[in-house]
Amino acid sequence: MLPKIELIFGAVLLATVSTAAAAQTAIQVAKTRGCGCCVAWMDRLSDAGFLPEGENIGGALIRLKMDRGIPVAMFSCHTATVEGYTIEGHVPPADIRRLLEDRPDAIGLAVPGMPIGSPGMDFGATSDAYDVFLVKKDGTTEIFSSYPAS
Ligand code: CU
Ligand code: CU
Repeated sequence: MLPKIELIFGAVLLATVSTAAAAQTAIQVAKTRGCGCCVAWMDRLSDAGFLPEGENIGGALIRLKMDRGIPVAMFSCHTATVEGYTIEGHVPPADIRRLLEDRPDAIGLAVPGMPIGSPGMDFGATSDAYDVFLVKKDGTTEIFSSYPAS
């Protein structure tokens, strides 16, 4: 009987391990070739437990943003997809986590432009103040979180 119990215990342990692996959230990142800050943002996501997969889609990137309903004023350098939400630009991983927990009825999050000091744009000692916007399905936006200058 003992080997059988060990087998069951082993199976439970294996299931626990694969659940932990599944907790790493996959995120697809559409970008353009040669965009260094896109890769730097993906590194910040990896550090925060996401599994980013980059794809260079060139000129189709603008089309993707428009198809997703991202307002032009919110455009940045990359457009990511996570659990049905669109993430535009250098959105901090913590905001993506909160989005996935709260699950608002919205398109996703955006950080327009490429603010100095945002994740992946954090090259120097100083940071610009910037906001993360919730992009709603009617095309309007509201502030989701704010980061101060430093
Ligand atoms: Cu960028
Ligand atoms: Cu980018």
